[in-house]
Amino acid sequence: MSRLDPYEVKKNFKILQQKINDEPLIYLDNAATTQKPQQVLDAINHYYKWENANVHRGVHTLAERATSSYEKARAKVRKFLNASDTSEIIFTRGTTTSLNMVAQSFGEAFLKAKDEIVISVMEHHANIIPWQELAKRKGLTLKYIELKNGELDVKMAQNLITDKTKIVSLTHISNVLGVENPVKELIDYAHNKGAIFVLDAAQSLPHQRIDVQALDVDFLAFSGHKMLGPTGIGVLFGKRKFLEVMEPVEFGGEMIDFVYRNTSTLKELPWKFEAGTPNIAGAIGLDAAIQYLQRHDFDAIKAHEKELVEYLFPKLQAINSLMLYGPEEMSKHTGILSFNIDGLHPHDVATALDMQGIAVRAGHLCAQPLIKNLNVSALVRASFYIYNTKKDCEKLVDAIIAVKEFFSHGPI
Ligand code: ALA
Repeated sequence: MSRLDPYEVKKNFKILQQKINDEPLIYLDNAATTQKPQQVLDAINHYYKWENANVHRGVHTLAERATSSYEKARAKVRKFLNASDTSEIIFTRGTTTSLNMVAQSFGEAFLKAKDEIVISVMEHHANIIPWQELAKRKGLTLKYIELKNGELDVKMAQNLITDKTKIVSLTHISNVLGVENPVKELIDYAHNKGAIFVLDAAQSLPHQRIDVQALDVDFLAFSGHKMLGPTGIGVLFGKRKFLEVMEPVEFGGEMIDFVYRNTSTLKELPWKFEAGTPNIAGAIGLDAAIQYLQRHDFDAIKAHEKELVEYLFPKLQAINSLMLYGPEEMSKHTGILSFNIDGLHPHDVATALDMQGIAVRAGHLCAQPLIKNLNVSALVRASFYIYNTKKDCEKLVDAIIAVKEFFSHGPI
């Protein structure tokens, strides 16, 4: 495994070379969205400059170029996930749309009153609300796996997943706690009980290799923008046997073969799920993002983020009145660390850090049930990616100490 050099990586990201509030930008909000390398910007620019046309419609050269690039992107995603066929790769707007599609299509057709769906208290809103709405519409029961010592209570998960469970939908890595869930074990467990397993990989896929066949996962959702790609593009992977029997949730052009006055015939997979003009530039940008990530070994990406967390974790722990969330063991944290400082509102902390050029996220982090469970109203979150350095960690620590010092003087 060759080491990842974040300083080399950073050279491809002009945005990171600017100053914010007269200080060099340190971007630590990667769990919300990542920055885009020049290679991704170039691919999108090239498409609009030389290939722009609608896909699957025209016979002219530009239309053929656009279609070929769009389908090439699908093939890239298939290979990246090790799915068995491109028909299992559906382009969506992102994780939220992908999860909604499973709830609205699979859930609507195959679940009946009193069936159970199991999620966890550590889900972000995208993996809660689609199931809440489905449960309301169909009279289903929604059950939550709780936390134990800052991580998923696996024993409780096994108790909750029963013969009544039809869907288990879990995040792979918590966007708040940074903790990774033992999904392979839970996928096998859910299958043994006859449930299907939906994996929210929004926070994991950008940081580690995922093989959908090895995991034997039924559906997997992720977003391009959290892995160096553009916003507005994401993927729903689904096993073909499920996608084949599912109805589209959107209807219109592009997803049909023949349209009569009162009925229409649908295209085959995956296009029956892609109504309307798709996000062609987005798919091409995602293709470039995957290509960029593949220049680095995924083990090296994971190792780099682990090294940063191992460097930062004890330094944060040593700050008086700073409280870290999630498991106490450092080894259980991936590249996301959430914290609070006693007596300071997280928004004040984030604003004060921004004054020093440091971008972190503060608030409920799109995970209100978890935040409530942690007995707080908000958190500060630092999240890392391939361009972050140990120096960024040191600057964060110094900046937090300066913020504490500043607020300790009280109102003027
Ligand atoms: N789920 C995204 C985050 O954690 C938006 O910031």
